[in-house]
Amino acid sequence: MQKELEHLRERAKEELKTLTEQADLEKIKIKYLGRKGELAEMMKKFKELAQAERPKIGALLNEVKIDIEKAFHEITKSFKSATVSSANFDVTLPGIKPERGNIHPVLQVQRELEDLFRSMGFKVLDGPEVESEFYNFEALNIPSWHPARESQDTFYVKGGASDNRLLLRTHTSPMQVRALQQYGVPLRAVVPGRVFRYEATDASHEHTFWQMEGLVVDKDISVSHLIATMKELLQGIFYREVEVRLRPGYFPFVEPGFELDIKCFICGGTGCSVCKQRGWVELLPCGLVHPKVLEAGGVDPKEYSGFAFGLGLSRLVMMRYKIDDIRLLLGGDLRFLKQF
Ligand code: PHE
Repeated sequence: MQKELEHLRERAKEELKTLTEQADLEKIKIKYLGRKGELAEMMKKFKELAQAERPKIGALLNEVKIDIEKAFHEITKSFKSATVSSANFDVTLPGIKPERGNIHPVLQVQRELEDLFRSMGFKVLDGPEVESEFYNFEALNIPSWHPARESQDTFYVKGGASDNRLLLRTHTSPMQVRALQQYGVPLRAVVPGRVFRYEATDASHEHTFWQMEGLVVDKDISVSHLIATMKELLQGIFYREVEVRLRPGYFPFVEPGFELDIKCFICGGTGCSVCKQRGWVELLPCGLVHPKVLEAGGVDPKEYSGFAFGLGLSRLVMMRYKIDDIRLLLGGDLRFLKQF
């Protein structure tokens, strides 16, 4: 058996030396070292040996096994280095660059605003896109006869109660009441998010767009706090003096209510499709929170007051990047999106 083992070792080494194809390596490995390979066969024979012969042959068996394994290890290594340095592999070629996406312009501006408001002590909140009539209208002092309740403006969805139907929120304002209920007063919060309206789409109308609600409720909050915060906000977004005008505006959930307009950046005030030839763009409806809204939020309007605003985030993004068609924001056209 000693001879047989030595012979086996020689044969294995010889065969490995003449090997040229890496694919054959595995085959030879199985032939010698496999579960039913030649070494395993020797193992069986070894078990049948007489006690006296065992120590010597056992030691040799181990030695042969280690030798063959070593030979395999070396040849595998040499195959690997040969592959890397072989002529058809050019190590100087540049690698394949992974495709990188980029953040949607709306989300970029949203995040900037979140930072700005956090620096002023605001919470950043998220709210449900499928809302109830109660939070979207009722709690905001929007009576049932109000035209916004019409299905011409609002997407109603199945479910909910007959006296409190479900809908896709038409603004982020429902979060005013939800935030007051959840966090109480004093409160400073902004709520960025998508809102939905049943619109005939054109350059300045979309069925889905972004708003950012702002709400501050505390003792002795007045219009001057509102104006100061709005100025800070516009400065932070446009990094320059922005021409603005305040008009009275009607929203059932603020009193008094205002419309803050900015001079159109696209046309510079001469009139274009975005500003509907007016030269001014409605950007920021705002006002002092109506006492009924405070009450719906569980806050005593005799003790507390507040202001709220509903920033048109989509419109703001359009102004900032001079985008002249709102439909581009949701169009999914990579030629457009890759520019940001
Ligand atoms: N929610 C109103 C809208 O979408 C905007 C608004 C918010 C007005 C807060 C006043 C105060 O039109």
